[in-house]
Amino acid sequence: MSDNILVVDDLHVSFSSSRGNIQAVRGVSVSIRRGESIGVVGESGSGKTVLSRGIMGLLTQNATRTGSVEFAGHDLSSLTRDELRTHWGTGMAMIFQDPMTSLNPVRRIGSQIMEGLTVRLGMSKEQAKSRAVELLERVRIPDPYAALRKYPGQLSGGMRQRVMIAIAVACTPELLFADEPTTALDVTVQAQVLELLDELRAESNMSMVLVTHDLGVVAGHTDRILVMYAGQVVEAAPTGELFANMKMPYTEALLKSIPRMDLPSGQKIPVIAGRLPDPTQPEPGCAFAPRCQYATDKCRTEQPPLVDMGNGHQYRCFFPIGGGR
Ligand SMILES: Nc1ncnc2c1ncn2[C@@H]1O[C@H](COP(=O)(O)OP(=O)(O)OP(=O)(O)O)[C@@H](O)[C@H]1O
Ligand code: SF4
Ligand SMILES: [Mg+2]
Repeated sequence: MSDNILVVDDLHVSFSSSRGNIQAVRGVSVSIRRGESIGVVGESGSGKTVLSRGIMGLLTQNATRTGSVEFAGHDLSSLTRDELRTHWGTGMAMIFQDPMTSLNPVRRIGSQIMEGLTVRLGMSKEQAKSRAVELLERVRIPDPYAALRKYPGQLSGGMRQRVMIAIAVACTPELLFADEPTTALDVTVQAQVLELLDELRAESNMSMVLVTHDLGVVAGHTDRILVMYAGQVVEAAPTGELFANMKMPYTEALLKSIPRMDLPSGQKIPVIAGRLPDPTQPEPGCAFAPRCQYATDKCRTEQPPLVDMGNGHQYRCFFPIGGGR
């Protein structure tokens, strides 16, 4: 059995819209090992959510996806949404950024958690109910039995996010996409949820893709980090290596300015002067050139190739930090 649970090669996702063709993910290749936790960081709009949804095959009708996605040895690229569905829950699962759009407002919490357990794992109703209670306890929902009977609209944002987490991990997926899983939670619960996700990884060798704006969260809960900019992975490295030896001016600027202990957790702040390029008109050269203090004419006209340092560290920059500019 391959050590990689996921192998993504040259994934592109674009959306047709009234603004034109939005190129949200542009040629991302990534492999994830079993049990590995990968952090994905990048400014708002850099393509983090679309990357996760593109891998899972959970895209809207106006999306076009190319490239290959291999999950647990199966080629998912050519599967229809219905065929992909067989991998959701037990294979891949996702904690969505916006719990309200992914919970069904007219079904009780209990039935939404128990569905996967009965349909996918073949549990009886009683077994599923006791597992649902256990899951709600693990995500620190105060009165789990009462919560089972509630509808999503009767819960606060933080409670809904915890329910989403319980649903996503119910069938012990092999790969979990956690898209800003703790933004609506207070700091204590946030820490408990991250601890729970770490426990699940240890218990079942689950792999995780953790999308977050929180530097402390990526540092403490990931093995490797991908830095996204304008739909590309511009730097990737083992977590310790990235913090010790970052190469991209963008990574440096981003990590200097993303939420710190003195800001409310998960708060999105304008990070770097200037803004992301128009996703309908990608830059001819380095996507970061209009905002980069080190940009030269070469940066503005040529795409920097991916440089592989051979220790798991890769970056796209002509003039890396520490490279003798
Ligand atoms: N369904 C869609 N139709 C059209 N454009 C979309 C759609 N979903 C995302 N986009 C566009 O794709 C780009 C990437 O969006 P994405 O949601 O992946 O960003 P993100 O990195 O997750 O940002 P955030 O940190 O705010 O969650 C953006 O330009 C966004 O407007
Ligand atoms: S390639 Fe040039 S513009 Fe792009 S990040 Fe590196 S120095 Fe800056
Ligand atoms: Mg997002």
